Amino acid sequence: MSYPKPLNDKSFLINSANFDVLHKTVNADPDQFWLDKAKRLDWLKFPTKAGNWQFEKPVSIKWFEDGVLNVCGNCVDRHAEKTPDKTAIIWANDKGTITKNISYAMLLKEVNSMALTLKNLGVGKGDRVIIYMPMVPEIAYAMLACARIGAIHSVVFGGFSAESLAGRIRDCHAKLVVTANEGVRGGKVIPIKATVDSALQHTPEIEKVLVINTSDTKVVMTPGRDSFYVHEYSKEVPPEPMHAEDPLFILYTSGSTGVPKGVLHTSGGYLTYASITHQWIFDVQQDDIYWCTADAGWITGHSYVVYGPLANGATTVMFEGVPTFPNPDQFWKIIDHLKVSIFYTAPTAIRSLMQAGDEWLETSSRQSLRILGSVGEPINQEAWEWYFHKVGHGNCRIVDTWWQTETGGILMTPLAGVHNLKPGSATQAFFGIHPTLLDEQGNEIDSNPAEGNLALKTSWPGQMRTVFGDHSRFEQNYFSKFPGYYFTGDGAKRDDEGDYWITGRVDDVLNVSGHRLGTAEIETAATLDPSIIEVAVVGFPHPIKGEGIMIFAIPANHTTQNSNELKETIKRTIRSQIGAIASPDAIYIVKGLPKTRSGKIMRRILRCIAKREFEKIGDVSTLADPGVVDHIIKVFCEED
Ligand code: WT7
Repeated sequence: MSYPKPLNDKSFLINSANFDVLHKTVNADPDQFWLDKAKRLDWLKFPTKAGNWQFEKPVSIKWFEDGVLNVCGNCVDRHAEKTPDKTAIIWANDKGTITKNISYAMLLKEVNSMALTLKNLGVGKGDRVIIYMPMVPEIAYAMLACARIGAIHSVVFGGFSAESLAGRIRDCHAKLVVTANEGVRGGKVIPIKATVDSALQHTPEIEKVLVINTSDTKVVMTPGRDSFYVHEYSKEVPPEPMHAEDPLFILYTSGSTGVPKGVLHTSGGYLTYASITHQWIFDVQQDDIYWCTADAGWITGHSYVVYGPLANGATTVMFEGVPTFPNPDQFWKIIDHLKVSIFYTAPTAIRSLMQAGDEWLETSSRQSLRILGSVGEPINQEAWEWYFHKVGHGNCRIVDTWWQTETGGILMTPLAGVHNLKPGSATQAFFGIHPTLLDEQGNEIDSNPAEGNLALKTSWPGQMRTVFGDHSRFEQNYFSKFPGYYFTGDGAKRDDEGDYWITGRVDDVLNVSGHRLGTAEIETAATLDPSIIEVAVVGFPHPIKGEGIMIFAIPANHTTQNSNELKETIKRTIRSQIGAIASPDAIYIVKGLPKTRSGKIMRRILRCIAKREFEKIGDVSTLADPGVVDHIIKVFCEED
């Protein structure tokens, strides 16, 4: 099944007339191509060098290293000068009843004020600042203000618990937290400041807390540490000159170990890549109203709500709420209201809105749309078709964009004016990106069709540079299994026509509603309560979330809790350790787990059970206690 490229493709920025030329140019001389693309930014000193990287150990990745620029200057000041009245950000509140238009001139004023406040609180170049906030415009101001003064921000999604927040603060030795008194999401008030207070009981490194009042609700303030944000328009804070390789931000993401890793992105390469991919992939033109629904706490919120769009001087929509509140037509109503022309969201949201029923499409026309985007997980064909035919009336191109926190920007996607669309396929690599499929021995599979481990052969400007404070973990995680390649952790297929289909993670990482969670991380959290001895976490297909979390847990001998109480205990512990996003979808209390004689849990067996593929379990004779498999199946079937 394929939807051919548009007949009239000349209206797209990238079209049949320039695509081949661009491809030839980048492949003939990638460094020259990227230096040329770097010209879209304003530099204080333009770089003479493009890429300087090696994927062999010691792994080192640098782009535009002798260039000097400021990211905030590029996202704000230069547009405030040229197009001061153009709307930079349109913000819509949780109910969708209030919208605010923030022009580039206003954005400059606000960001400057926030930068001055941070400076006055003692934040300087290289200091780490944690941003823990709801989706209000101030979250973008705070990110840009850090960039302006050369501080490194780390945004922590507002849904993470106090424990998670504290872990991130400790890992990056942050000096200051920017937060809000409270947030509101889907009609529920979230006591953000209270969570910060409880996190800070274990983090002496935090000197100051800056609290933004988003409502009249009073919160407890710790004297000497906490202060309310008051606008500071008294003087100008010029953008700090930064080297291209100076860190811009740290963003924590889950891996296959118990502790999230701090993905570090730097300035010049990241911004060049976010900017070019945003403009070309979403085909962003002069009057477009562009809306990416991601929270600023995720990489999508960094690259495609804040940095990419603002670097391009575009109009970007920020939404405080969720797709289904007050009703499952909330996205569509906002699209009509703001005349959104480019809309970018996640398959999990599409599926939940599809499930709510087509009648929720009747309260809007969505005539303003021309491009639709998908990101975060593989999109199933049914959801894709609904998005295409129903949401977009068959008039919009869909870009299914594959990338990762680590990649900084989109690496694979169809281009709206060039490629045939195939529901469920991220199709082709972006300019200058060289994916490959590796077999288990690390050999490249050249023929088509093929299936294997998805890796990248060469670097690109948006690639992460290191794991903050732990370069050997960076090397170990991404460059060791297949030496000489960046290994993505994803598996993929390539069809007869060379188009890529991402099949999902091949490591111990789950993708729940497009959010990444490590099985080890959830297991560590679940066993913190003394009533639980051991657990094993596996993913299973979930109709809305894509992947659900399933836990098999062994209770302690001494516990007096019954099975329902134990399940509640596990849920509560996980929520407090990680946050509601890691809440399990199914828990089974069992007497044992399928382990080899050396004690290793055979998750493969649990995955078969979770999918009800009992016939695929196969030989269990190598297990220390083969009888445990029948026991687990029995518990599983009885509870279903
Ligand atoms: C993982 C990265 C990239 C921003 C959001 C998630 C999966 C992402 C797609 C897609 C199939 C996708 C991959 C990837 N993924 N986009 N279009 N099709 N799978 O960022 O939390 O770093 O997760 O999300 O498995 O490795 P992330």
